[in-house]
Amino acid sequence: MQTRRQFFGSMSVPAVSAVTVAYLNPTMIERALAAVTELSQYTGSTEAIAADEAIWFEVSQAFTVDRSIVNLNNGGVSPSPAIVQQAMKRHLDYSNTCPPYAMWRVLEPQREAVRERLARQFGCEPEEIALTRNASEGMQICQFGIDLKPGDEVLTTTQDYPRMLDTFKQRQRREGIVLKQFAAPVISEDPSQIVSLFQQNITPRTRVILMCHMINLTGQILPVRAVVAMARERGIPVIVDGAHALAHFDFKLSDLDCDYYATSLHKWLFAPHGTGLLYVRRDKIHDLWPMMAAPEAGDNNIRKYEEIGTHPAANYLAIAEALTFHQGIGPKRKEARLIYLRDYWANRLLAHDRVRLHTSLKPGFACGIATVQIDGVDSVEMNNWLWNEYRILTTAIMHDDLEGLRVSPSVYTTIEELDRFCDAIEHVIKNGLPA
Ligand SMILES: Cc1ncc(COP(=O)(O)O)c(C=O)c1O
Repeated sequence: MQTRRQFFGSMSVPAVSAVTVAYLNPTMIERALAAVTELSQYTGSTEAIAADEAIWFEVSQAFTVDRSIVNLNNGGVSPSPAIVQQAMKRHLDYSNTCPPYAMWRVLEPQREAVRERLARQFGCEPEEIALTRNASEGMQICQFGIDLKPGDEVLTTTQDYPRMLDTFKQRQRREGIVLKQFAAPVISEDPSQIVSLFQQNITPRTRVILMCHMINLTGQILPVRAVVAMARERGIPVIVDGAHALAHFDFKLSDLDCDYYATSLHKWLFAPHGTGLLYVRRDKIHDLWPMMAAPEAGDNNIRKYEEIGTHPAANYLAIAEALTFHQGIGPKRKEARLIYLRDYWANRLLAHDRVRLHTSLKPGFACGIATVQIDGVDSVEMNNWLWNEYRILTTAIMHDDLEGLRVSPSVYTTIEELDRFCDAIEHVIKNGLPA
């Protein structure tokens, strides 16, 4: 089995830390609403909107971000717009008036509306959606919830997320299952290549496939529907890690035709931190165990995955505002803008010989995330230097299959911020990093 080194950057903290305290005043909320209202009324083509800085300036004003930092790690976790923060605060304040009444009796039942709206937006039944704390929780419900016997094999790639690999490695140590990984290509513009790789690595002992919808190291989008179809013919369930995909680019869960899909909502939906979604196809719920025990009477009920003990209502209810914001921007427009921003910085840097991109720029194979490497420059050192010198935040990727800087702007990122990033990288290309 391959050893994996993945480094997400050990960065020094600046001597004087500039902590911006976001103060949610009514003006911010009004601007946030104005931004999405304006965008939803705009009738230009998706491409024209993607390039219209005036519109995206308005959208950016919905956020309360620290502009002394160029945050190009929105793939890790996103800031929420002011209206989402405000809703969460409102629900939290109310919860604290009398938690057993306000939080449990009044607010908790309202999560059913959130479930219903998420299902409507992402194309499935409300009874197939559980609200989780993050993608890790949803994924682990699937990974631990499928019965496996010693010797049963789980097939995945070398580029799946470390925590999800660790989950099966723990089952390997504890229960004697076998985790098999193959090296996914770095950049694949041929969906059938991915399907064949999975197919070739299936053995008579393969019981489960784990795959990413979007690989976190490079932003590569994988052909979930085709892999699921191939695996279904062989009776093998596929657990799909959609942590980076949902609300990033435009698709419906029904497009994928999969049985198990988990995602974070605090990444690309801009929902409160500590929110996620788990989709389990209706007829698969009965046989998928919850991670925390639930009564037998709920065996067929998606809510069995939400039996986690006392938890805040505020985070989950404020998903509703994030969803409205997402709908106000428009999923297609958001996708187009994220691609526009990626192409802006990537094409500028690709003009230099020593720049290598580990992400396809062709339609359908990636979206707002891309990973760049400068030949001859250590990516971890460059990541640290960008932070220490310029307060530019990227993610250093050090992996057996590739290394580079993962760059993930968001809808509030300005062109000026991308220029500052490109200027800094061009400085490194010309002068190297200081010794
Ligand atoms: C592919 C992938 N899966 C799972 C996760 C875990 O997400 P979370 O921290 O929201 O649980 C991440 C986080 O970045 C990820 O990139």
